[in-house]
Amino acid sequence: MRNMDAITLFKPDLTKPSGRLVFGNSGSGKSYFLTEMLHRAFRSKEFGPQHRFVIIDPKHEMGSIDGPTVHHAANFPKAFERDRIVYVHPELGEIESMLDMVTDLSFMAADELPEFSATIVFDEFSMIATPQKMSESAARLFTQGRSKRIAFVAVSQRPVIHRISESQSAYAVLFRGSRVDNDRLKEKWGIKPDELDAILRQKQFSFGVLDLTEDSLTYFAPI
Ligand SMILES: Nc1ncnc2c1ncn2[C@@H]1O[C@H](COP(=O)(O)OP(=O)(O)OP(=O)(O)O)[C@@H](O)[C@H]1O
Ligand SMILES: [Mg+2]
Repeated sequence: MRNMDAITLFKPDLTKPSGRLVFGNSGSGKSYFLTEMLHRAFRSKEFGPQHRFVIIDPKHEMGSIDGPTVHHAANFPKAFERDRIVYVHPELGEIESMLDMVTDLSFMAADELPEFSATIVFDEFSMIATPQKMSESAARLFTQGRSKRIAFVAVSQRPVIHRISESQSAYAVLFRGSRVDNDRLKEKWGIKPDELDAILRQKQFSFGVLDLTEDSLTYFAPI
């Protein structure tokens, strides 16, 4: 892979699993990167008129493009129907029910509208998943997302590598992580932790992209 562009990251691809994982320490640049990628995707003509971007951001971190912000699940359907991009800031007790709503409506739209496609970004995925346990909606997005033309971008500080996200992801974007986390990447994907850290520490906010279907790791300068 030579380029990690907004299309590769965000566009659903019927030949690849729906998941895209983003990992890295607090402050390593994940939300900044996603916000910039989202701006690029939003300007691109590669995403059809019926494409939807849904940004689920419980920490209110990702800068917004022109689009409504939804705090309660009841307000989501209208915004989703009307707007190309919807920011979702669920209250802490409503994160799972919000994801259920987003997933249900996206799957329904995919079944009813042949031109529908979507990118769903979940910043702070560890709020709903661990390596052992994953919410049902997240599992649906990973396993059935591809056939529904949905890309699911799961972002977390620690690598949340559940067996479902491990097998149903196309890419993992790796920002600088801790030693323990890099060791986990080694155990799962054979990444060399010393090499990863030596390269990422040279330049703040740089990152590596692991292509999980081609099994290759490429490094990128900060965006
Ligand atoms: N590529 C970049 N160029 C310039 N500044 C950046 C870049 N990436 C991140 N920053 C700066 O670093 C700060 C922290 O980055 P960011 O919020 O993206 O971290 P994060 O990985 O999302 O952390 P957390 O896990 O705590 O949410 C940003 O507010 C921004 O000011
Ligand atoms: Mg963040």
